[in-house]
Formats: sequence, structure tokens, C-alpha cells
Amino acid sequence: MAKVIPVVNQKGGVGKTTTTVNLSASLALQGFKVLVIDLDPQGNCSSSFGVDKETLGAHAYHLLLGHAQLSEVIYQSEIDNLHIVPTNMNLAGAEVELVTEMGRESRLSHALHGHVDAYDLVFIDCPPSLGLVTLNALTSADSLLVPLQCEYFSLEGVSQLLRTLELVQSRINPKVKLDGVVLTMFDRRNKLSFQVQEEVQNYFGELLFETSIPRNVRLSESPSHGKPIALYDKRSSGALAYEALAKEFIKRLGLKKSKKTKKSKKASK
Ligand SMILES: Nc1ncnc2c1ncn2[C@@H]1O[C@H](COP(=O)(O)OP(=O)(O)O)[C@@H](O)[C@H]1O
Ligand SMILES: [Mg+2]
Repeated sequence: MAKVIPVVNQKGGVGKTTTTVNLSASLALQGFKVLVIDLDPQGNCSSSFGVDKETLGAHAYHLLLGHAQLSEVIYQSEIDNLHIVPTNMNLAGAEVELVTEMGRESRLSHALHGHVDAYDLVFIDCPPSLGLVTLNALTSADSLLVPLQCEYFSLEGVSQLLRTLELVQSRINPKVKLDGVVLTMFDRRNKLSFQVQEEVQNYFGELLFETSIPRNVRLSESPSHGKPIALYDKRSSGALAYEALAKEFIKRLGLKKSKKTKKSKKASK
């Protein structure tokens, strides 16, 4: 059974997309079958995998609104084991259009249910809000991953996120839980990074991953080349950190590769 894992934090610029792209790529390169769903209308996750947002056919918007099936919105990435459901600015309309729909918070869950069994993991790159699109991600989720940037106020908004999680747990999706918090843009030369680490450790305890992601310019360059860091510069500190995070993640979630030998579907787009 695929585990569905939204990468969520309602703040922008904290490393959600960078973490979704590079953690999922590392896991795929380690042999897991991974689907990545881009639910941020900015589509940075899609471009980071080299998908051209301007020429997309059906995408995440159509999936959420029920205008397309999952199999119609899956694209093959450069990594064999990694498929992506891309998006573009049109997804911004979903937030409003979903409001009047029946079962508006469960659209994604229904679209995925029974259709993601060929994958070990489904990562969802969430937009920087706790609106209906993020709610759809939480409703379909098994496990949440929360990136926090090493800066002042990194914990700001976290209590609101946890309250939303509790609401989803109690009303819609009892199985979802927070499985980890990861610090991003850690700068060893800056005392602040260590202070934030201590503060987050005190707040989250064991939920904080031991691996922190360093600030690394190669990580910020790789999206413009349409490649995850593991393909762009696999020896960079950023690549090594995401590889280490992937290993820690596998251990923490007790992940096992599926034995299915079914060939990956190739998108015809
Ligand atoms: N570890 C890092 N080192 C350097 N730059 C980073 C790192 N993580 C993210 N960035 C850059 O910071 C910006 C915000 O990151 P992003 O992953 O897009 O955040 P979010 O998805 O939460 O908005 C992007 O320009 C990204 O390239
Ligand atoms: Mg993002």
C-alpha cells in the first residue's frame, strides 16, 4: 500500500518544494516507486522535475475537480521510478471552485484511492496556505512531513498547523499523523541555526529528524536546470543531506520496497 505524505507548512519559502523534490528523488534512486503530486499553483515542483508548465495537458487541477483520472495526469520524470502529477497556475482556481462541490475536502483522497497501489510513496507538495487544497492533501494523507526554515519565527504558525491536523484527525481522517519535522537552510556559521535547532528540538522532541538540510547554493540552482540535486550535483552538501534524510526517513517509517515488478507506466505526453 502506498503511503501518502504531504509536505506541509503554510509559510512560503521554508523548503517544502525543495524537500519534496529532493527527498522523493533520493527515495526513487534508492529503489522506491514514488509519485509526486504538485499541489502548489506556482508549479515550482513541476518545473524542478523539468516539466514544461506552459504546455501541460490535464494536470492536478483536473484531477482535483474530477475532470481527469489519475492515469491521465501522470508524467514520467527523468528518474525511472519517479512519476509526477504536475500543475500550473490554473490550480489557483480550484481553491474557489471546490467550495461549492460536494465532499470538497475528499476530492484528492477519492482520486487516489485504489489508483496508487503501484507506488510505495506518494509525496504531495502543498501550497503555502491551510486552504481547501491543503485540506485535500491532509485528508488523503497517512503521514505529514513539515519542513521548518532555520530562522527567527520558524515555529510561528506551527500551532495553527497542528490544530488543523487535529481537526482532520478527529473529523475526517483518523489515520493521519505527523511523522517528522526537518530543518532546512541550516547554516553552521550562524549561531541562529543552532538556536532554532534547540528550540525546535524542545518543541518536537523525537519528531525532529537528526538530519538537517544545509543552506547550499546548488540546491537553489538545480530547479532552473529541471533536475533534482541528485542528478544535478550528487556530491554537493545538499545532495548528501537529502540522501541522508531519505535513509533516516526509510528507517523511521519502516519503509519496505514493494516487490512488484510491474513496469512503470510511461506517460505519452
Ligand atoms: N537548503 C537550501 N539551500 C539553499 N537554498 C534553498 C534551500 N532550500 C530551499 N532553498 C531555496 O529557497 C527558496 C524557497 O524554497 P522552496 O523549497 O521553494 O520553499 P517553499 O516550497 O516552502 O515555498 C527557493 O528559492 C529554494 O531554491
Ligand atoms: Mg513551494
